[in-house]
Amino acid sequence: MQVIIFDDAQQIAESAAEWVAELINKKSNPVLGLATGSTPISLYQELVKKYKAGELSFSNTTSFNLDEYLGINEKNEQSYRHFMNENLFDHVDINKYKTFLPTCNQGENPREQGLDYEDKIAQAGGIDLQILGIGANGHIGFNEPTSSLASRTRIKTLTQQTLDDNSRLFAADEFQPTLAMTMGIATILDARYVLLMATGKNKAKAVKAMVTGPLSAVCPASSLQLHENAIVLLDKEAASELEDQDYYVWADKQNVKINQEFGLYHNY
Ligand code: F6R
Repeated sequence: MQVIIFDDAQQIAESAAEWVAELINKKSNPVLGLATGSTPISLYQELVKKYKAGELSFSNTTSFNLDEYLGINEKNEQSYRHFMNENLFDHVDINKYKTFLPTCNQGENPREQGLDYEDKIAQAGGIDLQILGIGANGHIGFNEPTSSLASRTRIKTLTQQTLDDNSRLFAADEFQPTLAMTMGIATILDARYVLLMATGKNKAKAVKAMVTGPLSAVCPASSLQLHENAIVLLDKEAASELEDQDYYVWADKQNVKINQEFGLYHNY
């Protein structure tokens, strides 16, 4: 796991945007894995900026989002489809027919939808770069603590902590779904690269559990220890409980030189 510590969230967004831009500019048919939530919003703003400056085009990009609430129509403002349209898709030249979420509308079978999503990812050639946030309880996607490390896209019951954390996004009288469709942990681990961003003190405990383990379903993000190319972008608050911060800072200086000489990617 490559851990990089930044001064603030804006620097994280700029760095993450570089990873995405390099992939999109180098690969003829890039496949991006996307996330919702507060953390990636500034990344999406950076990507829109780059697109408007003519530095990158999404016209050949296919995308797969991590998760979507169950039974929520995509026109609903709380849907993750709506979030993606608002924060990214409506502002760049991506072909919306090539943007996928694990949607399961009312009346559809979540088991079939999960299998279908896995098929679609495989048909697209697999995910090159998966963007991730992390829950305060260590979840990635909506893979809550004790999710199987071998899980695939499926229906998942959200924990009370996740419901409480996300309640800020719902009005007092608004329906907040308790079920979601999410890529599984094994789906995420199949991505060629994963880029996890975390900011703020409330993520520090989960970040420590993810980076220094133990590898355990209790902290789903710790599964990234098994990934060959996991990059973790943290601000100082999110990194505050890590013990070897000096090492990460020093190693990052070496990696900057290595990346300049050999590029960010080596096996997509
Ligand atoms: C979002 C997702 C979640 C979030 C996580 C952090 O698609 O899958 O795992 O990444 O809950 O959310 P924020 O960024 O709002 O703190």
